[in-house]
Amino acid sequence: MAVKAVLKMGEKSLLERSREVEQFNTAELDQLVNDMWDTMEQENGAGLAAPQIGVNLRVVIFGCESNPRYPEAPAVPHTILINPTIETLSDAMEAGWEGCLSVPGMRGVVSRYTDIRYRGFDPQGNPVDRIASGFHARVVQHECDHLDGILYPSRIADMRYFGFCEELEANEYMSVQTNGSNPAETTPAV
Ligand code: NI
Repeated sequence: MAVKAVLKMGEKSLLERSREVEQFNTAELDQLVNDMWDTMEQENGAGLAAPQIGVNLRVVIFGCESNPRYPEAPAVPHTILINPTIETLSDAMEAGWEGCLSVPGMRGVVSRYTDIRYRGFDPQGNPVDRIASGFHARVVQHECDHLDGILYPSRIADMRYFGFCEELEANEYMSVQTNGSNPAETTPAV
């Protein structure tokens, strides 16, 4: 186990563009990915980007089982994605609650493309090429934003829909955006 500290918003390196991975199938890359899984598991996250543990390389991981705690967050395959690119498959966007391990205890409503194709590589350098929609597509867009130094609060269009989980739970109007569901209870941090 190598659980790393997750950097929090305010840390300058979270705002940097991360570098491409140039060498695959290395012990260093395997170690990075293992540390990321350990850290994500420890923090109960559904995704993590390498810059969140202080490594500015274009590496993200994500995945979650379907969990009754997160009824609006269906299972996402456990995936390691290196040097990712995203192609949008339609102009359709959907507003939904998001959380981030680098912005602990908060949730905000962000619009994301509903249908995407993402491509990249696994740690051995094998290509990854998938079509994703809904929550799966949202997580990929959130994680890839980290690689360009973008944290989700800068994508919130209406700052009334940004707040601390505890307060959001106590304020019913906050739930309207997601059909009455509770943002803190339905949104895993990524
Ligand atoms: Ni995040």
